[in-house]
Amino acid sequence: MIYHEPFDYETSEELLKAAKKLNLELPFQGDLSPLLRKLEIGGKTVPNRMAVQPMEGADAYVNGSPGELTLRRYRRYAEGGSGLIWFEAAAVVPEGRSNPHQLMLNNENIESFQSMVKDTRNAAYKAYGDSHDIFCVLQLTHSGRYSMLEAEASPKVVMYNPYLDKSAKSLHILDDKELDELQESYIETARLAYHAGFDAVDIKSCNGYRLNVI
Ligand SMILES: Cc1cc2nc3c(=O)[nH]c(=O)nc-3n(C[C@H](O)[C@H](O)[C@H](O)COP(=O)(O)O)c2cc1C
Repeated sequence: MIYHEPFDYETSEELLKAAKKLNLELPFQGDLSPLLRKLEIGGKTVPNRMAVQPMEGADAYVNGSPGELTLRRYRRYAEGGSGLIWFEAAAVVPEGRSNPHQLMLNNENIESFQSMVKDTRNAAYKAYGDSHDIFCVLQLTHSGRYSMLEAEASPKVVMYNPYLDKSAKSLHILDDKELDELQESYIETARLAYHAGFDAVDIKSCNGYRLNVI
C-alpha cells in the first residue's frame, strides 16, 4: 500500500529523522558549495548551478508583452542569485495562447522583451557584480488542445481524442499546411528571442500542449 502524509520540515535534521523513521535511504549533503561552481553552457560561463524553473504568471498584457508584475517577478528572480533563469512559456502565435495574459513574442512587441531581458540582467549585476552574467532561456509554446482565444476555449489539435475532447464545444484539427506554418512560427520566434537578448530557447513539448502529441 502507498502511504502519503503532509510534511513541513524546517531543518535538514527534521527531514533526515523522518527518512530514518520511514526506513528510507536518502543521500544527503549539507555542503551546498557545488551549487556555486561555475558552469559552461554553449560557450558562456554561467555563474552558478542554480536555476529558476519556467513558471507562467499569466500577467502579460493582452498584446503579449510582459506586464508590470512579470517584470517585477524576473527582477526578483535575478536578485535571488540563480545563474540560469528559464523564462516562462511564451506563445509563438496568438491562436496558441493558453490565456489572454500569456506572454507572446512577435515583431510588434520585441522591444518589451528586450527591456525585460536587460532589466533582469541588470538586476543580477546590481546584486552580485559585473561578472554575474546570468543565462536566460525563453520557453516557446503553442497550447494546442488548451488554447484560448479571447478567453474562450479554442482547441487546436492534430487528432480527435475521444477521452480528452468529449466535451469540447469546438475543435480545430490542424492540417499539414498549418503544421508547416507553425514550424516556421517557432523558427521566427526563436530568431526574435535571440534579438531580444536571450541566450537560448526551449521548445515546450510537455503537459499535453501542442508538441506533446496526444
Ligand atoms: C504556476 C505554475 C506555472 C508553470 N508554468 C510552467 C511553464 O511555463 N513551463 C513549464 O515547462 N513548466 C511550468 N510549470 C512547471 C514548473 O516549471 C515545475 O517544473 C513544476 O512546478 C515542478 O517543480 P516543483 O516540484 O519545484 O514545483 C509551472 C508550474 C506552476 C506551479
